[in-house]
Amino acid sequence: MSRQRPVRHFLTDTDLSPSEQAEVLELALQMKQDRFAARPLAGPRTGVVIFDKTSTRTRVSFSAGIAELGGHPLIINPGESQIGHKESIADTARVLGRMASVIVWRTYAQSGLETMAEHAGVPVVNALSDEVHPCQLLADLLTVRERRGRTAGLTLAYLGDGANNMAHSYLLAGTTAGMHVRVAAPASHLPEEQVVAAAQARAEQTGGSVQVTTDPVEAARGADVVATDTWVSMGQEDEGDARAAQFTDYRVDSRLMAYAAADAVFLHCLPAYRGFEVTAEVIDGPASAVWDEAENRLHAQKALLTWLLRRSGQSTEEEK
Ligand code: CP
Ligand code: NVA
Repeated sequence: MSRQRPVRHFLTDTDLSPSEQAEVLELALQMKQDRFAARPLAGPRTGVVIFDKTSTRTRVSFSAGIAELGGHPLIINPGESQIGHKESIADTARVLGRMASVIVWRTYAQSGLETMAEHAGVPVVNALSDEVHPCQLLADLLTVRERRGRTAGLTLAYLGDGANNMAHSYLLAGTTAGMHVRVAAPASHLPEEQVVAAAQARAEQTGGSVQVTTDPVEAARGADVVATDTWVSMGQEDEGDARAAQFTDYRVDSRLMAYAAADAVFLHCLPAYRGFEVTAEVIDGPASAVWDEAENRLHAQKALLTWLLRRSGQSTEEEK
């Protein structure tokens, strides 16, 4: 094990180049087949997983995943540590980096993750911020690979809150994977301009494309993948009813799915609110891949952690 190489982090979707993202997805497919083969955290070494917001999938998939990689998961739930109130992020990072081999963090501001990465000395992974949800997109892309055998050249339509973390990650990770990404959202909730610009830059590299529209039918027409997310993200609960009223035209129902390709796949990161962003007939119907998508959080993140540790020269395995 060597500490010579720069430490690799995964703070946003574009922290992986197109070829690196493909490597991680390929590794995830292999690791899903041979689930206990890789042990880059053998010892066991500790993976710290910190939550400033609640979670089911992320908590369990990182907990199980770190254990399956030979490591010891240490989960810190909201309010259980000094981070951000009694102690700065930088000081927390310095301490955690002395004891843990990887730090996974679900938080609010992207800038906090950047500070953590700057001071930790071990890989830092974004488990959802207000801006992006990049681990979820690895699982989504893995699901598309399984269902379609590829991602490049496929069209993905995301409908709903265009300004939230999932919309941003679909733009960034989807174009990294060579997809044509369409986002349909009300004019009041379009994606951030710098995210759209970054996605366009990626699309130019990979042959993908970006389209942002207020017309849900235009986005859904002919799409290979249709995705949505809650209309009320964590931290926005006080605005719940007002927000819901703004997104009703973007609900994914069977009428909207009828515009998509006949074999279109429906994705939702979950938790889902049936009757709001998606109807039961769609999420519980034949197009839905949401349970594979949820399971794939485990496989995609195990591959990501393995890849980051190997690339950072911090895996306990033989270098591969
Ligand atoms: N999709 C997702 O991140 O789910 P949790 O909020 O349950 O972790
Ligand atoms: N956009 C949602 C995703 C939940 C996994 C949120 O941030 O709450």
